Amino acid sequence: MRTIIYTGKGGVGKTSLSAATGLASAARGHKTLVVSTDNAHSLGDALDVPLGPDAKQVRPNLFAQEIDVLTEMERHWQQVYGYLVSLLASQGVEEITAKEVVILPGMELITSLLLLESYERSRAFDVVVLDTAPTADTLRLLSFPDAMEWYFTHVFRMQRRLVKVARPTVGKMMKTPLPTDGFFASLEELYTRFRRVREILTDPKNSSVRLVLNPERMVIAETQRAFTYLCLFGFPVEMLVVNRVFPPNAENSGYLQTVLSQQAKNLGTIQEVFGEIPRREVPRYPEEVIGEERLRRLAQDVFRDEDPTRVFASQIPIRFSSRGRSKFVSIDLPFASQEKIEVDMRGDSLYVRVGWYKRALLLPYAFLDSRVTGATFRDGRLTVEFQSPTEPRRSRAPA
Ligand SMILES: Nc1ncnc2c1ncn2[C@@H]1O[C@H](COP(=O)(O)OP(=O)(O)O)[C@@H](O)[C@H]1O
Ligand SMILES: [Mg+2]
Repeated sequence: MRTIIYTGKGGVGKTSLSAATGLASAARGHKTLVVSTDNAHSLGDALDVPLGPDAKQVRPNLFAQEIDVLTEMERHWQQVYGYLVSLLASQGVEEITAKEVVILPGMELITSLLLLESYERSRAFDVVVLDTAPTADTLRLLSFPDAMEWYFTHVFRMQRRLVKVARPTVGKMMKTPLPTDGFFASLEELYTRFRRVREILTDPKNSSVRLVLNPERMVIAETQRAFTYLCLFGFPVEMLVVNRVFPPNAENSGYLQTVLSQQAKNLGTIQEVFGEIPRREVPRYPEEVIGEERLRRLAQDVFRDEDPTRVFASQIPIRFSSRGRSKFVSIDLPFASQEKIEVDMRGDSLYVRVGWYKRALLLPYAFLDSRVTGATFRDGRLTVEFQSPTEPRRSRAPA
């Protein structure tokens, strides 16, 4: 299996390159999977296809997947996960919260490594492209097998021996549950799999790390650090992609015209989504904002002569609530008058239209099985009522 990992600072273009690589690879006849391991998934947006936690075919030969840590934990890591949840529950943490809390930062990294190992074992794909989280997390991801090795030899084995002694004596008396043998068995299995992951990733004949960067000083500095650490851990850095380079003829090719018209469209979307939240626009400076003078200019452009610590708005602009089987969204619409308001739920969003004025609101997960059943307008606030047609379906999101 060929493994290609794109990494780099946030926003440099990792997801775009992963998706592009996937398409090009599939077009050459390689059975290809692109996996997003960044929990702020945008792979589906880049490919313009909704993706889920399972590999989904999106084109001939091309599959894509956005890792969902909760799903993966429940599926593959039941023993460890179950123990951590019961440990928290014993401390009085509500189960629904405990399930969220045990998802430690970095868990999606671990999960994606295990997934990689299982794809390699099952030979399901010729090529796997990993679209990763920003560099710091990816470095932790790649160093994880080494860290595991240390924990195993120093911590887990010792604990297991202690637990064997402790269970018969204190197990029944203590409020805190002791890990079962199943817990340790699955940790050991994990350990074995991580060793294999390390072998896979450090094999320069099949695996590559590709660094994505932009020609900006801060981005270069972070990439330089990443490069050193990747070499330190023995990962084959095989390509550098310098993205977002302005073409030399930018000035007289209509290039800027296109940039400006895209920008106008996107500024319109910002207005629709964020409504009346106080907003400041800062120009794209010709150079990076580094050093006191440029930082002062930035502060001046944002706050003008105002105190930057002022409270610029104290109203919570959108409120979600529930009463019985009804859920409510209320939105501040200070300029609206009742006759003209239109409300429409489409997909996962609520659209509100008041004459020329539009708002688009992404609804929380808990609202998605519901329908709009009513709306009222009072004191400049629109309140929309939702009801689920049947019993609410089981939701994985916290209530
Ligand atoms: N060469 C490029 N020119 C213009 N826009 C780009 C370019 N590369 C990426 N983008 C855009 O920049 C944004 C961030 O890119 P993305 O691939 O999501 O970065 P990352 O995954 O590294 O955070 C996206 O909107 C993407 O479409
Ligand atoms: Mg990304």
